[in-house]
Amino acid sequence: MLPNPNAAPAKIGVLASGNGSNFEALIQAIADGLIRAEIPIVIYNNPDAAVAARAQRWGIPAVLLDHRQYQSREAFDFDVVQTLAQYGVEWIVMAGWMRRVTKVLIDRFPHKAINIHPSLLPSFPGIRAIEQAIAAGVKIAGCTVHLVTLEVDAGPILMQAAVPILPDDTSETLHARVQLQEHAILPRAVKLAIGQ
Ligand code: GRF
Repeated sequence: MLPNPNAAPAKIGVLASGNGSNFEALIQAIADGLIRAEIPIVIYNNPDAAVAARAQRWGIPAVLLDHRQYQSREAFDFDVVQTLAQYGVEWIVMAGWMRRVTKVLIDRFPHKAINIHPSLLPSFPGIRAIEQAIAAGVKIAGCTVHLVTLEVDAGPILMQAAVPILPDDTSETLHARVQLQEHAILPRAVKLAIGQ
């Protein structure tokens, strides 16, 4: 399907827990005109997450929803969904969102929630994927952008990039090179998914 140049910019809500470098790669690609989209809202769940300052620099509202204040994952996701709705969000991008999602979120965004994970899925799902790859002794690591389903890091794959593991790599040096690839493929995969 060819992109429709008359379509309104897609409204993408970003969920992030930490640094926010993938958020910044995405907003930069939008600012550069590579994706017809806008990011009306960033939601973060850790009060000290650097993503909040990055969002403010771009003039994007950053809303803190601290999962520690909620009784259940569902109650937390309910507030996430409500907040996204207030900003008219159509797609969500989990850019380092370190929370398991529930049906409450998935049912509101069927096939419209995108995640980035620092491994070549289906290898090394879950936390500490970089460390898992080094410990397993594989020679190729990488990153994956995929649609989110209830099973962690298991939804349909949109795009991947491979990163060789070098003999002297630590988790820090490898993660730094994986992140360069994340910043390259996340915007491209989002563009592919939203179709504009
Ligand atoms: C990335 O490596 C991503 O794959 C993982 O969390 C990290 C987030 O990095 N899910 P950043 O906050 O975007 O810099």
